Amino acid sequence: MKQINTFSFLLSLVANLFSQALGFDISCNSNVAVYWGQNSAASGSLPYQKPLRAYCDDDSVDIILLSFLYILKGAGGYPVLNFANICDYTKNSSVPVFPGTELMHCSDMGADIKYCQNKGKIILLSIGGATAQLNSDAATFSQQVWNLFMEGSSPYRPFDDAIIDGVDLDFEQTSQMDIIQFANNMNQFYKTSSRKYYITAAPQCPYPDANLGKLLQQAHIDMAFIQFYNSGWCDNSKYGLPRWPESMNYYMWDEAWHNKSFTNANIKLYVGAMAGTGAGNPGSYVGPDFFAKELKELQATYTDSFGGAMMWDMSWAYDSTPNFATNAKQALMAGSKCSSTQGSCCEKRAAEPSKRRRRRSS
Ligand SMILES: *[C@@H]1O[C@H](CO)[C@@H](O)[C@H](O)[C@H]1NC(C)=O
Ligand SMILES: *[C@@H]1O[C@H](CO)[C@@H](O)[C@H](O)[C@H]1NC(C)=O
Repeated sequence: MKQINTFSFLLSLVANLFSQALGFDISCNSNVAVYWGQNSAASGSLPYQKPLRAYCDDDSVDIILLSFLYILKGAGGYPVLNFANICDYTKNSSVPVFPGTELMHCSDMGADIKYCQNKGKIILLSIGGATAQLNSDAATFSQQVWNLFMEGSSPYRPFDDAIIDGVDLDFEQTSQMDIIQFANNMNQFYKTSSRKYYITAAPQCPYPDANLGKLLQQAHIDMAFIQFYNSGWCDNSKYGLPRWPESMNYYMWDEAWHNKSFTNANIKLYVGAMAGTGAGNPGSYVGPDFFAKELKELQATYTDSFGGAMMWDMSWAYDSTPNFATNAKQALMAGSKCSSTQGSCCEKRAAEPSKRRRRRSS
């Protein structure tokens, strides 16, 4: 009996280690980040994107980027969200909109965010996108982001008491808002909390990026999800070509990293890819096996700067055969500097919103 007990104790200990181990760790070089929200595969005949929680039961994805907060200052001075078929108040009359605004109240998503966080994933809100209106000022907008989505307080909280883990800046046009000031303000808010928050950016691959280059050089940014697609000469489809004139250019970003061109000298760089042929310019697409090989080689070569893979978007990744995210994750785990479960190096993440005190302001 004693031996059996010891055995089952060890077994449960191991099981416990594994379940606690799975989770995002910024210091790993095997993270997978996926944009969710724009349902980009549905423009063809593929199935619609599923609610957020449907993607949180497996360990393929570590970072989910909710896309997008696309109008910084809409009706009533509040921002506007869009997640395509999810929480769509224009098609679903059960979805409430906060009075005097175009800001929708997505309680289901709030519950899903907590669900995914409890599975060890971080959830970032991506701001911008191709059709964004970048029309606020840094002081107002940073305060709103803190109050509406983080530990501040507002009667208008789209995800109720769920607290997102940070923001991502996907600015693809000139911003009216001082983006560096915005990042600095967010980092100031982050410092007031014991919770770990992130700020990330999604530049296009030509270095330095036209819209986000200065941001990366002048503000502290934790991760850059570089879009190696839709830019032609520096896309994934040019991976393996000689360095000039056309070549996938992670080497340039790594060189900038080693040149200490970024305010955050330890910023993690991610290789972004389209997860399906129709997710962007079809000429930029590389298949899951090509991408997996590319990732393995970059991970092995660029041991300081490399953080993992990014993909656009979830709907394509999970409609792909093999699953684009799972395939990339497996390739990355094979050469990961973290343990096979990302165990030893990972903090356990759990949402504990009820314990947090809220300031009463909006
Ligand atoms: C409509 O919105 C409600 C409330 O958010 C939600 O529970 C329901 O699933 C939505 N219906 C569809 C078809 O998306
Ligand atoms: C890194 O620094 C070297 C030397 O100053 C410079 O020639 C090179 O262009 C820099 N690379 C990048 C990507 O900024």
